[in-house]
Amino acid sequence: MSDLSPQTTATTAEDVKAATPAVSDATPASPVAANWRGYLRVGSIVRETPIVKTFRLLPSSGERFLPFTFVPGQFLNVAFSIGGARMNRSYSISSSPTHREYVELTVRREPRGAVSRHIVDLLKVGDLIEAGGPVGRFTFTGTEADSIVLIAGGVGITPMLSITRYLTERSWAGDIFFIYVCRTPADFMFANVIADLERVNPKLHVAVTMTRPAGTNWKGPRGHLTKELLTQTVSDLASRRIHLCGPPAMMASVKAILTELGVAPEHVKTELFGLVKPAPVAAGTSLTPTAPATGPLVTFSKNNKSARIRVDLQAGDSPPKQTILELSEELGIGIEFSCRVGTCGVCKVKMISGEVEMAVQDALDPDDKTNGIILACQAKPKGEVTVEA
Ligand SMILES: Cc1cc2nc3c(=O)[nH]c(=O)nc-3n(C[C@H](O)[C@H](O)[C@H](O)COP(=O)(O)OP(=O)(O)OC[C@H]3O[C@@H](n4cnc5c(N)ncnc54)[C@H](O)[C@@H]3O)c2cc1C
Ligand code: FES
Repeated sequence: MSDLSPQTTATTAEDVKAATPAVSDATPASPVAANWRGYLRVGSIVRETPIVKTFRLLPSSGERFLPFTFVPGQFLNVAFSIGGARMNRSYSISSSPTHREYVELTVRREPRGAVSRHIVDLLKVGDLIEAGGPVGRFTFTGTEADSIVLIAGGVGITPMLSITRYLTERSWAGDIFFIYVCRTPADFMFANVIADLERVNPKLHVAVTMTRPAGTNWKGPRGHLTKELLTQTVSDLASRRIHLCGPPAMMASVKAILTELGVAPEHVKTELFGLVKPAPVAAGTSLTPTAPATGPLVTFSKNNKSARIRVDLQAGDSPPKQTILELSEELGIGIEFSCRVGTCGVCKVKMISGEVEMAVQDALDPDDKTNGIILACQAKPKGEVTVEA
């Protein structure tokens, strides 16, 4: 890896070596959704790149350890009140679970993003953050396979860093292939941390490519991730477990390359950060507001409101339907959401009657399913439905 020195979280090779678990029960729990909800205090803030900061979060009232454990690759759901509106977002944990005293979130400032700008521009040491979780199944602890290929683009590096830190701290014997795509050397977050990990972990193989390095002194690979770079970096790729997280276009192109290289889809785990523009009112629907509301009737029992789902009649044999979340936004029901892609679980509601289809149900655990909990952001009613909202 080329030697770069952007400001990064202050992890040194000594830190990594010394990072044996702080407490004996630091082994991560199984990757299931957790129900902890409370407050964490901002302990320190590090600027990683001009638009990315890492926030180290501590227990809120002076306890030594966090009130939860997590598995590398999981995320927290955080909530803020901004301009009078309550907003939820998900952020992957970039630190390792062996450190029970803190958790780190690394946030990229989106130019027009409501919450990321609030976090990056305004949060300061000492502030309290409402958070919940940890959540997510995009996890790896070293027991699931004997090697791992981590492919990240941009801020999609965060879950991969937690996994790599954890495996290194545990002296995991397997090969870790860490492939990172970013625009320029200035955007290369955690460059020093990764270099430190490489120094102490001979099983860590890093390749970084930059898509817009013109005018910089970047000497490594240039351009988007290619078949050639992948196969040069990872021998016998098709036999290995692969984790992929990055901007949607990068993920689509890498998935196509992996298919071309004969990688079976079940070997590839992905996490979509769900950068979907939120729309708290009617514009939240993927359908035009003029689409007729001819679909199934949905009743929101707590609000005592009912309305029909909109169905786009122009859209062919299987016309897209609104989700229950989109309908609830039109009616001002106030179901909370974060990712809108079925992974965070913030939009869980209880279905009292009826049946829905959900394209993604990652955030539901077996108990949720037994108890009739659905994800409003995914739920498309098959017939008349009543939800407790
Ligand atoms: C499981 C998971 C893990 C995640 N982990 C991380 C992480 O580790 N780090 C991280 O930084 N993010 C992460 N995200 C993404 C994060 O949750 C937020 O989606 C992200 O911070 C953007 O939120 P926001 O409120 O700033 O943007 P939003 O207000 O939600 O806007 C979303 C997008 O729309 C654009 N937009 C907003 N308004 C307009 C407009 N009027 N016109 C045009 N475009 C507009 C914004 O620029 C942004 O790109 C994760 C998401 C998920 C689901
Ligand atoms: S909003 Fe994240 S699962 Fe529905």
